[in-house]
Amino acid sequence: MESDWKRALCEKALEARKMAYCPYSQFAVGAALLTKNGKIYTGCNIESAAYSPSICAERTAFVKAISEGEREFTAIAIAGGKQDEPPKGECPPCGVCRQVMMEFCKPDEFWILLPINQNEYGEYTLEELLPRGFGPGNLRE
Ligand code: THU
Repeated sequence: MESDWKRALCEKALEARKMAYCPYSQFAVGAALLTKNGKIYTGCNIESAAYSPSICAERTAFVKAISEGEREFTAIAIAGGKQDEPPKGECPPCGVCRQVMMEFCKPDEFWILLPINQNEYGEYTLEELLPRGFGPGNLRE
């Protein structure tokens, strides 16, 4: 479904790619996370010479938001592709990032937007990308 806020969030993710620190993969990812009260936290991937400390753009955005006290989220936009080039297709979140989303977001209400450019984006719920995910509720059962 077309909507202005979704398009605006996608633009923020495309913009956030410019901040990516990705000298090892040369794959630049940007994310823009929208809170329920309308704030946007951006993130980029940050790699490490030791490789495993690298963090994805999505988790950078979540870490920024959570550490500022945010707990409720509406949507995240994620854009990725070869550094210094426009994305060639959708950049779906990795499994670890999907699991972090599962911690803080309602699977059937949280939107994941995957822009390819300013005008085109795929949209999915967390439930679609992480079916029957394990979340905080499972520990309470
Ligand atoms: N990456 C992200 O930041 N988010 C994704 O959704 C997929 C992968 C990063 C990790 C690494 O820095 C680079 O992209 C190549 O995998």
